[in-house]
Amino acid sequence: MMTPEQIERRVRELAPWFHDLDLNGIRTAPNHFLGSYPLGLWEAIKHIVPADLRGKTVLDVGCNAGFFSIELSRRGAARVLAVDYDERYLEQARLAVEVAGAENIELRKLSVYDVGQLGERFDFVVFMGVFYHLRHPLLALDLVREHVVNDLLLFESMCRGSTRAKRYAEDYPFEELDIFEEPAYPKMHFIEQKYAADQTNWWAPNVSCMEAMLRSSGFELLQHPIPEVWLCRAAGKPGGEGAVYPARGVRR
Ligand SMILES: C[S@@+](CC[C@H](N)C(=O)[O-])C[C@H]1O[C@@H](n2cnc3c(N)ncnc32)[C@H](O)[C@@H]1O
Repeated sequence: MMTPEQIERRVRELAPWFHDLDLNGIRTAPNHFLGSYPLGLWEAIKHIVPADLRGKTVLDVGCNAGFFSIELSRRGAARVLAVDYDERYLEQARLAVEVAGAENIELRKLSVYDVGQLGERFDFVVFMGVFYHLRHPLLALDLVREHVVNDLLLFESMCRGSTRAKRYAEDYPFEELDIFEEPAYPKMHFIEQKYAADQTNWWAPNVSCMEAMLRSSGFELLQHPIPEVWLCRAAGKPGGEGAVYPARGVRR
């Protein structure tokens, strides 16, 4: 058991934090630019997450300081694997997991582009707040579908532009130009430099685009409780016929 003084010292050593966690009364980012994050977001979506995850395996991709991993471990998951490519965030997650006493959480340094190396599928995959930080987001989504999702995916992306989820026809003639002018037509804005002072914000899809990309990567959309979050089920192959991305590093 860590004393409050020890926790406070580690929290300061590991600053700045993106997740505002409550570690036995010590807040990690009380002045978060998103307000109460991620607790506020969790309050808005937790009803769509299975209340009982006993016997289920969970993968949290881009886990940051581990907020979602800890919440899912509290729902009884048999095993939670939390991965992030940033060692500093993983160090924060190690502290958070230790304070929470969540013994079923394993932390590992891994990029989303390398999920094929895991050689394992998970019942519940969390892919929250990472998509738009990637230069190759659709590739990452395809890889997640192809290699690690067994059943459910909890997904979040920053979205900008139209919030209308509109489905378009399967095909249009070459002369059809007007649909591209519609705000709801699937669009993803490319951010060449920075957005919100963050140069890792590469893309900002509109809501139709996000839904189209999730479907195209082989997901059925089950729930959409707030504009930027979806609960999905694995239902097909990425790219319809299947975009094949070999699982590098996995012995076959
Ligand atoms: C905005 S934070 C979201 C954290 C958390 N999933 C959430 O929803 O609160 C983005 C996280 O994705 C991680 N990340 C970015 N690119 C990644 C990649 N290629 N592979 C794995 N993690 C990545 C970052 O290190 C960071 O922890």
